[in-house]
Amino acid sequence: MTDQILEYDDAGKGLPLLLIHGFPHDRRLWRSQIAGLEGTARVIAPDLRGFGASGDPAGTMSMDEHAADLHALLEELGIQKVVVAGLSMGGYIALAFLARYPTVVKGLILCNTRAAADTDEAREGRETTARKVMVEGVAPLAKTMLPGMLTQEFRSTRPGSSASIQTMMQEQRTAGVVSALRGMALRPDRTPMLGTITVPTLIITSSADKVIPPSESEAMAKAIPESTLVVIDGAAHLSNVEAPEAFNSAVRGFMAGLTAFEPPSPLNEASAHR
Ligand code: MLT
Repeated sequence: MTDQILEYDDAGKGLPLLLIHGFPHDRRLWRSQIAGLEGTARVIAPDLRGFGASGDPAGTMSMDEHAADLHALLEELGIQKVVVAGLSMGGYIALAFLARYPTVVKGLILCNTRAAADTDEAREGRETTARKVMVEGVAPLAKTMLPGMLTQEFRSTRPGSSASIQTMMQEQRTAGVVSALRGMALRPDRTPMLGTITVPTLIITSSADKVIPPSESEAMAKAIPESTLVVIDGAAHLSNVEAPEAFNSAVRGFMAGLTAFEPPSPLNEASAHR
């Protein structure tokens, strides 16, 4: 592996917005957000280690270790403050990032995700899936997962977009997928930290998400003091793919709120006192 562990897109100018993809995805998940938000923010969309064009992990990677990779990338880019957005597994990593690097986070966007750890049953299911992937490869898993990612309506009316999501999922490598399955199973319950989150937080969910139902987002919104909940009507798990306009507009509004109340910089304060 080279020093440059993560491949990424870096587009636009303004407050940095880090987009963390879900499982088993890569930065192609964010195509509509990069195009739709680069006029609003500096959008940084990496491939997590083990996914897309990034290097492979040495073994199981915890959500914390993914967060550390992302922090190293931001340091390399000279970014000191960032809005961290994660979808599903990306949300687990976003919460790990906030726990490890609270001073770097200016705002948090939790999309179609949850704070709770896996149940014992879910953990066992992940291990069974990991073993299956080691034998069969990723393609059968991608096929099984697609109906959870996108509604039947989207799949039938937008076959091209739906096929791109399936291709993106089945192109992932066994090493990354197995590592992520085991890493997600290890993640701690982040529910106790929700009440302590002080950064403004946007929570996005969608009414037809059966992978992580909207009730999980509603619970997070109740627990996080400075949070706003947006429910996108009719979309499944990949709300950003099914409803990019609604998704991007929620993010734009949130980013505008973060920059509107920027405290004056020391330079401005000095000139104001003159
Ligand atoms: C995801 O979309 O990232 C996964 O469905 C998350 C999970 O398996 O818990």
